[in-house]
Amino acid sequence: MALRKEDVDLDPQPVGELALQTLAMPKDTNANGDIFGGWLVSQMDLAAGIATKQVTRGRSATVAIKNVSFLYPVSVGSIVSCYAEIVEIGRSSMHINIEVWIANSITQHGQRKVAEGQFVFVAIDENGRTRRIEVPGKAGQ
Ligand SMILES: CC(C)(COP(=O)(O)OP(=O)(O)OC[C@H]1O[C@@H](n2cnc3c(N)ncnc32)[C@H](O)[C@@H]1OP(=O)(O)O)[C@@H](O)C(=O)NCCC(=O)NCCS
Repeated sequence: MALRKEDVDLDPQPVGELALQTLAMPKDTNANGDIFGGWLVSQMDLAAGIATKQVTRGRSATVAIKNVSFLYPVSVGSIVSCYAEIVEIGRSSMHINIEVWIANSITQHGQRKVAEGQFVFVAIDENGRTRRIEVPGKAGQ
């Protein structure tokens, strides 16, 4: 089926709130000289953890990472921005969609999405056990 003009987003924008921004450094490269995917996932994990703080107001831990896709290679010197959107809150868990966008650190131009994935965090107490997330206005938990 042919794409209609209105289906093609000519100016795609990040979904979610900016949770973390950093610079891709030479120490984070893989054997190809591009940025190592594991480093990018750790930035995404940090961003998801930061996003959960506004909800959990305490300790939380990653329990699952799902459907991570790397869409384009990331070069040294790129500004790496992680955007977070909390899409579901359960009894103790939160599902957070993360998008990673990069821009050239000199020109600030050419912003594009390079990776995305879903992270599941669980609110935990001081003993590492799950705890209920209190959401204002959400009764009967
Ligand atoms: C987080 C942890 C305390 C959860 O313990 P648990 O016994 O699995 O807890 P539960 O089975 O009750 O699950 C807790 C919640 O997580 C959700 N969950 C657990 N595993 C999940 C998975 N693989 N995918 C999606 N959700 C998951 C459950 O659905 C539940 O959600 P809800 O409370 O909103 O209904 C435990 O798994 C743990 O300590 N894991 C290590 C965490 C860690 O150290 N992370 C850092 C990276 S190593």
